[in-house]
Amino acid sequence: MKTKLRHWTFFFAAAAIAAPGCSDNADPVYKDASQSVERRVDDLLSRMTLEEKVGQMCQYVGLNHMRQTAVVLSEAEMKKSHAMGFYADCPPERIEEMIREGITGSFLHVTSVEEANYIQSLALRSRLAIPVLIGIDAMHGTGLVRGATVYPTEIGQAASFNPALVEKIGRETALEMRASGSQWTFGPNIEVARDARWGRVGDTFGEDPYLVTQLGVAAVKGLQGADFTGEDYVIACAKHMAGGSQPVNGINGAPNDMSERTLREVFLPPFEKCVEAGIYTVMAAHNEYDGIPCHGSRFLLTDILRGEWGFDGFVVSDWMDIERMQDYHTTGATLRDVYSQTLDAGMDMHMHGPDFYYEVLEMVRDGVIPESRIEASVRPILAAKFRLGLFENPYVGEEKTRGTLFCEEHRATALDAARESIVLLENDGILPLDPAKYRRVLVTGPFADNQVQLGDWAFRQPEENVTTVWEGLQAVSPETQFTLCDLGWNVRNITPEQVRGAVRQAAGKDLAIVVVGENSLRYHWKEKTCGENSDRYDISLYGEQEPLIRALHATGIPVVVVMTNGRPLSTEWVSENVAALIEAWEPGSLGGQAVAEVLYGKVNPSGKMPISVPRHSGQIPVYYNHKFTHHWFPYATGKSSPLYEFGYGLSYTTFGYGDVELSAGTMAPDGQLTASVTLTNTGSTAGTEVVQLYLRDKVSSATRPVKELRDFRRVTLAPGESTRVEFTLTPDKLAYYDAKMHYGVEPGDFEVMIGSSSRDKDLRRAVFTVK
Ligand code: BGC
Repeated sequence: MKTKLRHWTFFFAAAAIAAPGCSDNADPVYKDASQSVERRVDDLLSRMTLEEKVGQMCQYVGLNHMRQTAVVLSEAEMKKSHAMGFYADCPPERIEEMIREGITGSFLHVTSVEEANYIQSLALRSRLAIPVLIGIDAMHGTGLVRGATVYPTEIGQAASFNPALVEKIGRETALEMRASGSQWTFGPNIEVARDARWGRVGDTFGEDPYLVTQLGVAAVKGLQGADFTGEDYVIACAKHMAGGSQPVNGINGAPNDMSERTLREVFLPPFEKCVEAGIYTVMAAHNEYDGIPCHGSRFLLTDILRGEWGFDGFVVSDWMDIERMQDYHTTGATLRDVYSQTLDAGMDMHMHGPDFYYEVLEMVRDGVIPESRIEASVRPILAAKFRLGLFENPYVGEEKTRGTLFCEEHRATALDAARESIVLLENDGILPLDPAKYRRVLVTGPFADNQVQLGDWAFRQPEENVTTVWEGLQAVSPETQFTLCDLGWNVRNITPEQVRGAVRQAAGKDLAIVVVGENSLRYHWKEKTCGENSDRYDISLYGEQEPLIRALHATGIPVVVVMTNGRPLSTEWVSENVAALIEAWEPGSLGGQAVAEVLYGKVNPSGKMPISVPRHSGQIPVYYNHKFTHHWFPYATGKSSPLYEFGYGLSYTTFGYGDVELSAGTMAPDGQLTASVTLTNTGSTAGTEVVQLYLRDKVSSATRPVKELRDFRRVTLAPGESTRVEFTLTPDKLAYYDAKMHYGVEPGDFEVMIGSSSRDKDLRRAVFTVK
């Protein structure tokens, strides 16, 4: 490894000194930063060979990644892998040559500045010295880079109902990405998660199209700024288009078989709004929609994306999914077939590997694909490189890395985000904990003291950067005598004997805090129970976790349960029996501190559920914005209602809602009106409430959901304080696809519901008429 690094340093230095590339005139327009991006792209394109053009559409995994993967995976295993790759007939040395030849456009899985700089140094030695675009899944901070700030995963961010916070996280993530050598994140994930069995729920902003849209747009603004010009912003990627978050059986990549109406009403709005907000890239989904793999869907990737929404960035494929059109979907017998299908659908960049390059090159040479089709894809890719400032400076200096990653400001945001993401689900009055009453506390469960709280898309971080629940508790309540009974992080391996050990340790304690949940860490690929490709048919607490809670409960001491998990977990018995239950999601680097602050009342919890929790996986799909007939009849056995509803979450204070007041009883289809309530903090602690506004179209030509979130506001009030919360209702909040699939507002009565959750009993109502 050392030798390799020296080798890289040499290249980097040599490339930096040598005049990059050898163009055919001294001052080509494309190298002149004072020229417009359009002129620079035109000039560069006019100088490029066909090989160089096709090369821009090709992405490869990082050189280090390739070398490491080749040692641990066979070729057959690698073909099936979604996280690791190498190229059997194209070793890293050949890829290095290809970079120097100027026929590689992009890389992913480059996780160190040294490697990023090295790859750029090779690219600058190519004929036209076109830098490469380095992509990474910076889903909640650039957590695949060691030393980065890891924020709560998207599902936790969503529980904050706080777009400004999500924008800030995006902004800081962009800075940390640029400081670690990447310029393109494969996020945000703006899929609407409608199946708790699906392992990637934690990757998303939850089940509601409106919330997902607001937070997705906020993330894009944070990541891209106004138009990502300069060296401080990155390009974002809306993924995965579309519908993979409601797979037929909960399995990642399984078909999605839904009506165009549901696709357009539920799954597409976040994409459309992110396009409107200027998102520059879109990733196609693994799944098929209506019998056509999304990677080959002209309907999705061209007709809707570019035709209807005017998208002018570029589309990237997901990991080897074009090849899977040949292997799994079998819509083509050869690679040529599927490459041709995807290009016809509107694909611009291939993730990842050399096959695409050689096949597509040949197809253009054979006249099957016109060169102009290639140029259409290359233009936006080159434009991004210009706007990101890569032609001026593709390198990252060590100082920038040191001063930016995990800096004080970013740590503060990560802590705030963790605080705001925590949802208090149950509290019999035990919280906030009184240290004078609970002096000796047992802390146990698989996730009390390790990095599982970082969630998916994070590699191991330096221990000193992560505050676990165990560490947080000691820092927040130094007067309490805490005892740790560590069960290890692997929920698959916890034994009944370990449970008995924890019970023995509970003797003489006043309280037990049990940290349970799921593990999404990708470096535990085969052990994790959640995250990418870790779907479950049973969403209860896995293994011995519930027996552990039951056994501790049976000792008679109060039990407080903290869950760290990336998907809803059905915990009916736990909910009904323990003293308190906290949903901490995957709270990131400083999550343990935030959990402890909530437990001891230093922070009043304000998070609300961004997704419903089923009681049982047999109820799935469970979402609040269902049609009335979804619950036409109750189940013959067991309850039909969810365990926790969308929008629900407790506080240490209470809030009172006044009646809903409307500015008028009627509204023109193109008019607007306001709906308002008076909110009062009726408790004795300061607190933050998320006021939620739902609408229902009472009679409609096509069926409508029983309610849909159409606005929300976070409001902080001192004890006894009141405020008026006002919402403006505009036609876009009432519009839908009518019986003839026309999008618009249908006249008639609409019900406005305002309150603290989507539960009927938490909502105040009023009706107005659209005339
Ligand atoms: C995931 C994508 C991700 C890509 C690159 C795929 O397996 O589905 O979301 O961006 O890998 O890591």
